[in-house]
Amino acid sequence: KEIFLKDYKAPDYAFEKVDLRFELGEEKTFVTSNIKVLPQSSDASAPLILDGENLKLVTLKINGSSVPEDNFKIGARKLHLTSLPSSAFELEIVTEIEPQNNTSLEGLYKSTGNFCTQCEAEGFRKITYFQDRPDVMSKFTTRIEADKKLYPVLLGNGNLVDEGELSDGKHYAVWEDPWTKPCYLFALVAGQLVSHDDTFTTMSGRKVALRIWTPPQDIPKTAHAMKSLQLAMKWDEEVFGLEYDLDLFNIVAVPDFNMGAMENKSLNIFNSRLVLASPETATDADYAAIEGVIGHEYFHNWTGNRVTCRDWFQLSLKEGLTVFRDQEFSSDMGSRGVKRIADVSRLRISQFSQDAGPMAHPVRPHSYIKMDNFYTVTVYEKGAEVVRMYQTLLGKAGFRKGMDLYFKRHDGQAVTCEEFLAAMFDANQVKFPTFPLWYAQAGTPTLSVTTSYDSDAQTFTIKCKQEVPATPGQPKKEPMLLPLAVGLLDSHGEDMRLTSVKDGASLHNLTSANGDFTTTAVLHVDKAEQEFTFVDILEKPVPSLLRNFSAPVRLVSDVTNDDLFFLLAHDSDQFNRWEAGQTLSRKLMLDLISAEQKGETLSVNSAFIEGIRSTMTNSSLDKEFVAKCLSLPGESEIADLMDVADPDAIHNVRRFVIKKIAASLREELLKMVEANRSLAAYDPSHEHRARRSLKNICLGYLASLDEPEITELLVNEFKNATNMTDQVSALAAICQNPGDARSQALSDFYEQWKEDALVINKWLALQAMSDVPGNVEHVRGLLEHPAFDIRNPNKVYSLIGGFCASAVNFHAKDGSGYKFLADIVVQLDQLNPQVASRMVSAFSRWRRFDEERQALSRAQLERITSMNGLSDNVFEIASKSLAS
Ligand code: ARG
Ligand code: ZN
Repeated sequence: KEIFLKDYKAPDYAFEKVDLRFELGEEKTFVTSNIKVLPQSSDASAPLILDGENLKLVTLKINGSSVPEDNFKIGARKLHLTSLPSSAFELEIVTEIEPQNNTSLEGLYKSTGNFCTQCEAEGFRKITYFQDRPDVMSKFTTRIEADKKLYPVLLGNGNLVDEGELSDGKHYAVWEDPWTKPCYLFALVAGQLVSHDDTFTTMSGRKVALRIWTPPQDIPKTAHAMKSLQLAMKWDEEVFGLEYDLDLFNIVAVPDFNMGAMENKSLNIFNSRLVLASPETATDADYAAIEGVIGHEYFHNWTGNRVTCRDWFQLSLKEGLTVFRDQEFSSDMGSRGVKRIADVSRLRISQFSQDAGPMAHPVRPHSYIKMDNFYTVTVYEKGAEVVRMYQTLLGKAGFRKGMDLYFKRHDGQAVTCEEFLAAMFDANQVKFPTFPLWYAQAGTPTLSVTTSYDSDAQTFTIKCKQEVPATPGQPKKEPMLLPLAVGLLDSHGEDMRLTSVKDGASLHNLTSANGDFTTTAVLHVDKAEQEFTFVDILEKPVPSLLRNFSAPVRLVSDVTNDDLFFLLAHDSDQFNRWEAGQTLSRKLMLDLISAEQKGETLSVNSAFIEGIRSTMTNSSLDKEFVAKCLSLPGESEIADLMDVADPDAIHNVRRFVIKKIAASLREELLKMVEANRSLAAYDPSHEHRARRSLKNICLGYLASLDEPEITELLVNEFKNATNMTDQVSALAAICQNPGDARSQALSDFYEQWKEDALVINKWLALQAMSDVPGNVEHVRGLLEHPAFDIRNPNKVYSLIGGFCASAVNFHAKDGSGYKFLADIVVQLDQLNPQVASRMVSAFSRWRRFDEERQALSRAQLERITSMNGLSDNVFEIASKSLAS
């Protein structure tokens, strides 16, 4: 069942053209697929093997005549055809499917009465028998027939070339996609939808029709998505010279969707939470996520669709690259520094912990059981870091040269990560022999740095040691090239000019030919141990290491606390300025945790409080950046740094520090709230978003004090809020403390929003994530609430995913959290294996906890793996978790 990269074989048959006909029905849907097949192999007797799942084969014809029974064989997941013509032939397959009963939400399914599809990675095989692999690229036409009243809108890929009436109240539409594509980019939508229409004129002057489709009542919430799409189209032209290649671009919002969104050619399908927004119902974070994902899916038109993947092991070829592109887009639209901080936090919290656990895999995995399990933070976010490293090594202009060459060589092809690497290096005439290892080696490298200043020689030396840890199946690792961006601060906190650096025997001049000097040097670290020496350093500097997080590594350095406070106050690199504060917070919390475990009394030193005070009150800083600086590292981030994670001690210590800060800075926090409150109409611009984020984090601190006067303030903030950002932040703050104010606010919020499913998901998540002891019973109760529906992935992610995010409750000592999650996984797996598998992943770090907890979670994992009819999806995650 396991599939290996090394077993890749090119297909024996090409599918030149595919004509599909869908007869959509309430009970049965018929799919007729007409394929022009071209034999490719020298072996004329090669069988044609088609994938197919949950299909009923109705007829099977070659060149118009039924295929004799001896010439085909149907298995549970394959259709084998033999004795085939040796030259081009026509294959016609009719299958019957039941989209109305498809709860897996892959293939063709129904969501709130409308038909829609999700084919990536391997969903097309649930529609018809096909070579369901990305290196089979064809020209598709799609004819859709359906009841006109129930399904007035019929959408497919490409251009609408025909439409009309049929008998029995039916109608039809024919769509033709002029671009060849793999079947995972196929899409179809049929239903009662209306569109928000606008246009975009491309750089060559073509006018493209843009349409965002939703149920009628949601149209007012599509303005932000439309604007984001137009900005994304413009940005891709300006930054990469990439223009849209059709006259129509459709986006459809559907409420039931496993993932975020899907880049189907000219017919993107989105989870509605990533399209719909209004100031009253969506937060600043929602607005930002919509902008980013609209961009992401649009950018796939070039990085994914025009150039696609040879096989699914290459997924990061399109995803890592497209995430990098959407990160850059969002940086250009908002604050670059804050975006980088958010992206790195996410990488460290989710990806570093994946890389250290049983599911650790390289950016290009070597094997998988179920591909859907590899749509991971490693393939996406670490993959984006790998792409970013090319840019750090080659420079922006060099990176652009590489992109241009990549498209010049591979437009219209299905390729591998090697091809991307070759285009980047060839375009810049460089060779970095150890860089390809980033695609093959799992695990987060540790980069240990020690520094020394020689006042006589006026040199500053940086000693690096790099180590890539063993991961499942990969005991031995090699050092790989990582760019280490370094700045040196003088005693005034200014960046020193860096003139040259010695790397072993060679001296590198850092001043450019035209005399421009640099203040950040990019060191090429590619050996297990290596030394770099900066010359002409007139005083002992404070080093700013790994600026802008120039490589996805764990940095361990000998920088002192004094240096960190200095960097927090002065570093010109925004990321490292924030990181200095985070490093101080992590050290503080780890120290307090060991004190807590020994039963000692806890205290926070005044230097730490002063560091926070001066950052908070520094009016020269961007408020959104200040809000980031005020956010302490999360509980899971701290847990990952401990030998044996102790969720209770971590939680107590983190709460202790928060309360300490709140008590010490009470007046400043209140002033911040006053100064940054606004009752004016919602303004999504950076300035106002920044103001809100700072005010709301201050409210969170104040809430920890649990004083009646503060509660009153919070309740007023909640009641007077003019937008969802402020309303839900106040609600979250109130919810920190059990009591009447909490129950009242929760019930008011529910009454206000019960008709809006996306808002109610916030209400579910907020309760689920609560750290109130014994919350598992409350969450079990919510399973029965009308607001919950286990068939809707968003609701599962809010309620179940939310619950697992509360470490104290999920890892409760009595095992009640583990049992709860296993109960859900068992039930969910029958309905939707992809979502069940994402939920079961919460168990994957079970070995990080004490023995009693290990025994309790192991028992639940064993219960899951022993289940009858378990999906491959859940089996893979649960069994790999147990094995490691
Ligand atoms: N290609 C989509 C995106 O990143 C995600 C599709 C995920 N599908 C899945 N079955 N895991 O934009
Ligand atoms: Zn993507």
